[in-house]
Amino acid sequence: SPIPTREDKFSFGLWTVGWQARDLFGEATRPALAGVEAVHKLSEMGAYGITFHDDDLVPPGSSSSERDRIITEFKGALDETGMVVPMVTTNLFGDPVFKDGGFTSNDRSVRRYALRKVMQNMDLAAELGAQIYVFWGGREGSEVDFAKDVRSALDRYREGIDLLAQYSIDKGYGMKFAIEPKPNEPRGDILLPSIGHALAFIAELEHSDMVGINPETGHEQMASLNYTHGIAQALWAGKLFHIDLNGQKGPRYDQDLVFGYGDLLQAFSTVDLLENGGVDGGPTYDGDRHFDYKPLRTEDMAGVWESALANMEIYLSLREKAKAFRADPEVQAALAEARVEELARPTLGDGETYDTLLQDRSAFEDFDIDRAREQGYGFARLQRLSLEHLLGVR
Ligand code: GCO
Ligand code: MN
Ligand code: MN
Ligand code: MN
Repeated sequence: SPIPTREDKFSFGLWTVGWQARDLFGEATRPALAGVEAVHKLSEMGAYGITFHDDDLVPPGSSSSERDRIITEFKGALDETGMVVPMVTTNLFGDPVFKDGGFTSNDRSVRRYALRKVMQNMDLAAELGAQIYVFWGGREGSEVDFAKDVRSALDRYREGIDLLAQYSIDKGYGMKFAIEPKPNEPRGDILLPSIGHALAFIAELEHSDMVGINPETGHEQMASLNYTHGIAQALWAGKLFHIDLNGQKGPRYDQDLVFGYGDLLQAFSTVDLLENGGVDGGPTYDGDRHFDYKPLRTEDMAGVWESALANMEIYLSLREKAKAFRADPEVQAALAEARVEELARPTLGDGETYDTLLQDRSAFEDFDIDRAREQGYGFARLQRLSLEHLLGVR
């Protein structure tokens, strides 16, 4: 199988390989993993970046001297390996203080505390050179509709993001923010539940130019949405600032499986879009290929590293398959037959208006509607060829 390299820009959350597998029903099954060890191990495996929540790196309750020591050692590991920290985020969900959310808690003092927690961590993120700051509002939401005034909550969400954007600008951090949608879990209903909701929210922000999204494969699929379509719309809007790749088996609890484990065909089209979906057949996205998954609870540390490698290998295998798919003359003929490129042609001609459209009898009065009704589109062939390429039977 293909070997991951730094140029592939693979990154992992410290909370992924560091997950001790504590869940709703059981205790941890694995020991804690220090940031320094994760940096070394991921670097050896071919990753180029590591990301973290403030509390992943510095355990809550650490004294300021402990905090300094941890950060110094972490930086040492980065220097030794050449690993980078492309993205950083805040834990605004674990501490009981955030049980009703951070930016949108009904308790105003909690909102003020949340903003301070983010600003403190943005300082660290800037120090480590992170260019992307992620906002996943897992506790922003409700279980009881009558308990949350959603319009006020969105006002406060906007107030929070606007303030933090201003902070980044004033401090000269030059960060880009990426909002991560999720439909539910841990809240019964989370605010900004899908890519579309998040994009609509971003349009209302003061510094909307510096805010985009960080869509996670499984989160869209939990809502039965098509991840590939979602990131395509984000690209179309110029808002795909980061991605969380993982696997999910349909609408159920958030599984955070290894990338590809779940809807493998959609993983295939996702990789094809990221790698070959540009107008020139090149990449559409040049950011990190970031994995946000949870190693299976049954595994020891050997299984953790096995699964980390699996994420990267599956991505690279799908990248090779997508390349072969695009290069196959039969696929090219099938794409032409299906007139996939015809959609790029504007519906009206150069300089045409609705007046000339109204005058064009061939568009309506003389339109051969029966031909259009009877024609086949040739998509079945693409369906078959994509499956054959994925299965490696071509
Ligand atoms: C999830 C989310 C989280 C966030 C992460 C970043 O699985 O519910 O993906 O893991 O990505 O906490 O803040
Ligand atoms: Mn995520
Ligand atoms: Mn998830
Ligand atoms: Mn997760």
